[in-house]
Amino acid sequence: MALLRAQNVVSGYGDAEILHGVSMDIHESEIVCIIGPNGAGKSTFMKAVFGLIDCWDGRVTYDGADITDADPDDITRRGLCYVPQTENVFPSLTVRENLEMGAYILDGVPQAALDGVFERFPILEERQDQIAETLSGGQQQMLAMGRGLMVDPGLMLIDEPSAGMAPHLVDDVFEKIQDINESGTAILMVEQNARKALRNADRGYVLDMGENRFVDDADALLDNDDIEELYLGG
Ligand SMILES: Nc1ncnc2c1ncn2[C@@H]1O[C@H](COP(=O)(O)OP(=O)(O)OP(=O)(O)O)[C@@H](O)[C@H]1O
Ligand SMILES: [Mg+2]
Repeated sequence: MALLRAQNVVSGYGDAEILHGVSMDIHESEIVCIIGPNGAGKSTFMKAVFGLIDCWDGRVTYDGADITDADPDDITRRGLCYVPQTENVFPSLTVRENLEMGAYILDGVPQAALDGVFERFPILEERQDQIAETLSGGQQQMLAMGRGLMVDPGLMLIDEPSAGMAPHLVDDVFEKIQDINESGTAILMVEQNARKALRNADRGYVLDMGENRFVDDADALLDNDDIEELYLGG
C-alpha cells in the first residue's frame, strides 16, 4: 500500500484550474522527485496535498486515511511535514524558537526530536540562539528541514530544497535528504535541479501543465532521451 496516494487531484486558485487531475503514489522508504517546467503546478500539488489549498476533485490518502482537504495541523499530526519553497523559517525568531514552533501541534517540545535535529545539523545547535534571518541561505534551509523533523514525520514534502543555494552546498542538501530518508522518513521533493535530484531519488514524476507526463524509476528517467531533451535541458 502506498504511504501517500493522490488520485486525480484537481485544484487551483480562484477560477484558475492549475492541476487537472494529478495522481501520485509515494511508498514508505522512498525518495520521489517531482520535476517539470516553471508553472507546471509542482508547488500547487504539494499545497493541495498538505491541505493549504482546496482539492476541487480527487482524493488524497495518507497511511490509508483520507486526508483530502484536511486541516494542515491534522495532516501534520498524522505524520506529514511540509517544507515550503520560500518563507520557510520565521525570520525574527531564534533558531531554537523556530524548531520549537515545528512542534507546536504537539503537547510539548519533544526533547528527543530536538536532540535528533541538533545531531543531524550541528550548525543549528551551535547557532540555536541566533536570529534565523542572520543565517546563510543554506543554513536557513537546514533550519526549515529541521523544523519539519520536529514532528518525527513519516513523509516529508520538500519544495525546491536546493533553490538559491551555492553550488557547493547543493550536494550537502541532497546528502541530508538521503540521511533523513535512511532514518525512516519517505521524501517527496520538487526540484529544479532535476538531474541531480533524480540521481538522489528512487522514482520521479514529470508534471507539465498541471498533468502527469511521465513516471518511472529515477535511473530510467535519466536515461530517457525524451525526458532528457524536454525536461533535463538536452
Ligand atoms: N497564489 C497563487 N494565486 C494564483 N495563481 C497562482 C498562485 N500560485 C501559483 N499560481 C499559478 O499557478 C501555476 C502553477 O504554479 P506553481 O507554483 O504550482 O508552479 P511550479 O511548478 O511550482 O513552478 P516553479 O518551478 O516556478 O516553482 C502558475 O501559473 C502560477 O502562476
Ligand atoms: Mg514551485
